Amino acid sequence: MTGPSRRALLQGAAGLAALSACSSGPEQGSPTTAYGVHQAGVTTAQQGFGNLVVLDLHHAPIVPVLEALGEEIERLVSGRAADVPEPGDLTVTVGVADPGLVLPTFARDTFGPEHCGGDLVLQVCGSDPVAVLAASDRLTRDHAVRWSQLGFSGAAGKDGFGRNLLGFHDGIVQPRGREELSAGVWGDDGSTVMVVRRIVLDVEGFNDLAVDQQEAVIGRRKSTGAPLSGGHLTSPLDLAAKTPAGAYLIPVDAHVRRAHPLATGRPLMLRRGYSFAGEQGSGLLFISFQRDLAEFIQTQYRLDAGDALNRYLRVTASGVFRVLPGFSASRGLGASMNADR
Ligand code: HEM
Repeated sequence: MTGPSRRALLQGAAGLAALSACSSGPEQGSPTTAYGVHQAGVTTAQQGFGNLVVLDLHHAPIVPVLEALGEEIERLVSGRAADVPEPGDLTVTVGVADPGLVLPTFARDTFGPEHCGGDLVLQVCGSDPVAVLAASDRLTRDHAVRWSQLGFSGAAGKDGFGRNLLGFHDGIVQPRGREELSAGVWGDDGSTVMVVRRIVLDVEGFNDLAVDQQEAVIGRRKSTGAPLSGGHLTSPLDLAAKTPAGAYLIPVDAHVRRAHPLATGRPLMLRRGYSFAGEQGSGLLFISFQRDLAEFIQTQYRLDAGDALNRYLRVTASGVFRVLPGFSASRGLGASMNADR
């Protein structure tokens, strides 16, 4: 890893270490395994910290790099690497650039070429930010970092959900169970498409709104997370519900209405983003996993065309990668890729 990138990571860690005590969740902390049909870190219960690192390989053949990464990842998560003696629930997810996966330019994109593209992405997550950073350092040491972002998730409240920097519950509506995950997330070969978007939020501007105005922007209650159409946190949205005067209870430009899969006719994507705060501003490192890139693109077009949240955000980095199928001791991480790449 280059000097400045490593320094930035460590500075971020110092600020965030204090938060690690807050990160808890039913399945957090348990050791993970690198091996399986799918890579870890997609449907794994979200850990407290996530570090996203995009690498440039400068035309080095990718398959040997992947093979070496896979072996190192297995050593790291099983606690056999000297750099990370106590990995806890560490997971590392690897994605590769794919010429068939291209994102168009969206309305709120404000980044230059250095904050998109790249050959490879590593998503390193865990409850212990020190382990996350040590593992990131170990894995990226021999490569050029294009951009990276460290993030943290809000501690789960009594209702089991964390909040983002706007103070709203996040990650309520997600694909769950085998059927929804195979419809919306996993490809037939066990891979998935990962979209990453570093979204800087105008948190102050949003907080200047009265709470009922904030709720109209999102489409949910700030206190309970319930949809504005009624019910409780996990009640389905009723997009048809109206006031006696005929206005939609969930406004036409509310984020949850614009993002709802009914509007795109596509299955639901899995969102697994992390908040961030620091030199890059404050916001959400949006990360989604979907079977088909069109799931993301069509949703983002719907947001571009009329999401009330657009007034409070801009995107400062972006990427799309194919998360390779899971691997094992006998079938390495690069096995699914063409050997001459
Ligand atoms: C900083 C930017 C964003 C913020 C603060 C944000 C926040 C939220 C919040 C608070 C919810 C409601 C709780 C939940 O179901 O998780 C939500 C739902 C959702 N968001 Fe976002 N979001 C952002 C960007 C995006 C982007 C870029 C996409 C995809 C293109 C997206 C897709 C969704 C989807 C699919 C839902 C579930 C909608 C439903 O109820 O069916 N969000 N988001």
